[in-house]
Amino acid sequence: MKRILFALAALVLLTGGAGEVPSDPSTSPTVNPHEGDAKAIEAGAKLFKRVSCHGCHGTNARGATGPDLTDDTWIRQPTDQMIFNVIKFGRKGTMMSPFKDDMVDDQIWYLVAYIRELGRQRKAEGG
Ligand code: HEC
Repeated sequence: MKRILFALAALVLLTGGAGEVPSDPSTSPTVNPHEGDAKAIEAGAKLFKRVSCHGCHGTNARGATGPDLTDDTWIRQPTDQMIFNVIKFGRKGTMMSPFKDDMVDDQIWYLVAYIRELGRQRKAEGG
């Protein structure tokens, strides 16, 4: 755990994204401020491994215990805000637990940007 926190702290320093951590969800942006940003996507890819999303969602998010995050099939409506909320607040009653204590909002948006980029890449490859 300490190592994960250290890695996250280092990442925050590297990306200069420390900033505020709004605890009230209504203050969070509803569109991804980092959409399509190559640096954010790279940071999201690193977070995906460091915060061990890949443990459940598989390498490159193609699905394992948790669902594939790169296909067009979503359990709920696939807005960026929904993806953000699932990561931040989790899904009650499922193995998808909240990550709000592990990452600041910007880092969660990096993950959203990364997941969206994987989806685009997959589409470009023809599914
Ligand atoms: C312990 C296993 C586990 C871990 C770790 C985990 N997830 Fe999940 N995740 C799940 C499961 C199971 C679901 C499906 C929940 C449901 O049935 O609604 C899910 C759902 C999701 C969804 C919604 C998918 C959909 O189709 O609606 C997203 C997005 C997501 N996870 C992203 C992440 C990210 C990003 C991380 C890392 C920060 C992560 N998850 C870590 C198990 C996990």
